[in-house]
Amino acid sequence: MTLSQKNRESQPAQETLIGRRGRLLGAKSQLFYDEPVHLVRGEGVWLHDADGRKYLDAYNNVAHVGHCHPHVVEALYRQASLLNTHTRYLHTAILDYVERLTATFDASLTTAILTCTGSEANDIALRMAQAASGQMGIIATDATYHGNTTAVSQLSTRMPPVGGRAPYVRLVPAPDSFRHPEAMADGRAFGDAVREAIASLARDGIGLSGMILCPMLANEGFPTLPGGFFDDAISAVREAGGLIISDEVQPGFGRTGSHFWGHQRAGFVPDIVTMGKPMGNGHPVAAVVTTTKILATFRDAFRYFNTFGGNPVSCAVANAVLDVLEDEALVANARDVGAYALDRLRPLADRHAFIGEVRGAGLFFGAELVRDRETREPAPDTAGRVINAMRDRGVLMGKTGIHGNVLKIRPPMPFSRDNADLLIDTLGQVLDEVAGASA
Ligand SMILES: Cc1ncc(COP(=O)(O)O)c(C=O)c1O
Repeated sequence: MTLSQKNRESQPAQETLIGRRGRLLGAKSQLFYDEPVHLVRGEGVWLHDADGRKYLDAYNNVAHVGHCHPHVVEALYRQASLLNTHTRYLHTAILDYVERLTATFDASLTTAILTCTGSEANDIALRMAQAASGQMGIIATDATYHGNTTAVSQLSTRMPPVGGRAPYVRLVPAPDSFRHPEAMADGRAFGDAVREAIASLARDGIGLSGMILCPMLANEGFPTLPGGFFDDAISAVREAGGLIISDEVQPGFGRTGSHFWGHQRAGFVPDIVTMGKPMGNGHPVAAVVTTTKILATFRDAFRYFNTFGGNPVSCAVANAVLDVLEDEALVANARDVGAYALDRLRPLADRHAFIGEVRGAGLFFGAELVRDRETREPAPDTAGRVINAMRDRGVLMGKTGIHGNVLKIRPPMPFSRDNADLLIDTLGQVLDEVAGASA
């Protein structure tokens, strides 16, 4: 009996797809929605399920230039048909890409390492900061997510590491523009928390390597940040000899509409930048960008090689993504359609007291849902009801934030004003329905 025959015979006769998944991938392998979606095809901003139903994708930032964009697919196919090796051979694709990528940054950021995931990129960034500072202490917010390697998951608050957090990690309170607007004024409160974290590391005899943050605080619920919000905290880190790591996995590649990178929008120049998700439109490619000096120090300290990172196919794909962003003026589109959608979303807050705050930038926006605006008590159940009802009506979106109560809308970049109309009209109906049910 072959292995596959044996496997088939051990399957229950009427096993559901979800049951099969649980059996093969583990019962807790994460799925979106009470009734998960079985997708079989994607095109632009549309996804199709196995029953032929069409969904408007208002969530997936990975398919940055649209699902299965023909220019990206063609680049992948062409290079995969020609050659795919790794970075221990000479090849121009990675050089052409890194040249083009680094041209989008401040003049100090000129070199890169390519990886396969954002987690790997952040793992390298932490090691770069350690190599450059000679220290281990690292600061992040207390509601963040920077990935899943052993080192990076030390920074996660939702699933703390077995055996407790490493002594060199300090987590500072994530700002909350809705509940504590007074603390948002000039970033001083955040800066003070960072200063206290540096002092606490020093008290324990641990020096500072740096601070890692998403400049949009995406996983923290993308609070509204005034210009220069991070300046005080960044000065404190630099004065203590630490480096600044900007995790651009979510706001990068023009998503916020005003700038190509989130740190440019926030108004600071990091020492190290990491990126991933949108970079390959679904193909696993990610990167760390830094200065010549930091990269040289890292290479001296750790002989780094990544079998798949920066292979010619990944570089061809990543290059094609940049082509499409330029050719279809998608950053300007994010600015225009994002502003249009936010203008249409705000009036919904006048109609529903359970919308606490509408916020976001470009094609990354949403609303914080609360039990009532006075108490500001978060309403994660309402957010869950809304996203499931949206899914039932054919629009895919998500929720995030410290309390899991922030509606998260982050569609592929070719999202149009018509798509925004469909999204907001459907959301309006769903919010009326949810308000009716809880009245
Ligand atoms: C801010 C941020 N950084 C890093 C990661 C990890 O990226 P990856 O899943 O490609 O390892 C994520 C993933 O959601 C993320 O949101």
